[in-house]
Amino acid sequence: MTTTATQATALAASARGLTRVYGRGDTAVHALRGVDLDLPAGQFTAIMGPSGSGKSTLMHCLAGLDTPTSGSVTVAGCALQDLDDTALTIFRRDHVGFVFQSFNLLPMLTAGQNILLPLELAGRRLDAEARARYDLVVDVLGIRDRLGHRPAELSGGQQQRVAIARALVSRPAIVFADEPTGNLDSETSAEVLGFLRRSVRELGQTVVMVTHEDGAATYADDVVVIADGVVAGPAA
Ligand SMILES: Nc1ncnc2c1ncn2[C@@H]1O[C@H](COP(=O)(O)OP(=O)(O)O)[C@@H](O)[C@H]1O
Ligand SMILES: [Mg+2]
Repeated sequence: MTTTATQATALAASARGLTRVYGRGDTAVHALRGVDLDLPAGQFTAIMGPSGSGKSTLMHCLAGLDTPTSGSVTVAGCALQDLDDTALTIFRRDHVGFVFQSFNLLPMLTAGQNILLPLELAGRRLDAEARARYDLVVDVLGIRDRLGHRPAELSGGQQQRVAIARALVSRPAIVFADEPTGNLDSETSAEVLGFLRRSVRELGQTVVMVTHEDGAATYADDVVVIADGVVAGPAA
C-alpha cells in the first residue's frame, strides 16, 4: 500500500448509525436520526447546516461530551461506547480538544495559564517536549505578547486564539470547534479560520468545525452538510 493510500484511509473519528433523542414520548426531540460519518486524520472538515439540524449534538457525541441514544462513535481507534464515565473523561482529556463559541476561558487565569491548564490537569510535567509544543502553538496563533494577560484584557479574537491554543497544546487526535467564530466580527473570523487552517497544515492537527461562514469551504478540505439530524451530503 502506498503512503498516500494509507493516509487516505486513516480516520481520526467515525460515527455509525448515530441517534440522539432528547426527552421521551410526545415531546421527544430526534436531534440525530442515524448519522454515518468518517473524519479523515490530518484534515480540516467543516460541518454546515441550518440552526437546529443537530450539529452541536453531533459534535458533543463525537467528542464524548454527550452519550448517543444508539449507534457508535470511534475516536483515535477507541470505541467510546465501551468506556465508563471515568475512562471517558480521561480519554477526552488525552485525545480530544474542544473550542466553544463562547471561548470558555477561566477568567482568573492568564492566557498562558489557560493554555497550560490541560497539561496541568493531566498531571503532565512541562518537559522540553511539552514546552516546545506550547511555544509552537503560541507562535502559530500569534499570541506570545498576550500570555501574561487575563481574558478580560483580551479582544474576542485574541480570547478565541487562546482557546484554540489550549485545545491544541496536548496534541489531541482531533479538535472539535463548534461555531468558533460565532461571536467574532467578520475580519476576526477570517483570522481565526486562518489559524485553524494553519494548525491542520503546519501542526498536522485534525480539525472538525461547525460554521455558518460562507467562506468556510475555502478553508476546509471537506464540507459536510447536516440537515434534520442526518448527513445530507457533501456541499455542492
Ligand atoms: N439538551 C437538550 N434538550 C432538549 N432538546 C435539545 C437539547 N439540545 C438540543 N436539543 C434540540 O435538538 C435539536 C438539535 O439541536 P442542536 O444539536 O443544538 O442543533 P444545531 O447545533 O444544529 O443548531 C434542536 O431541535 C434542539 O432544540
Ligand atoms: Mg449548535
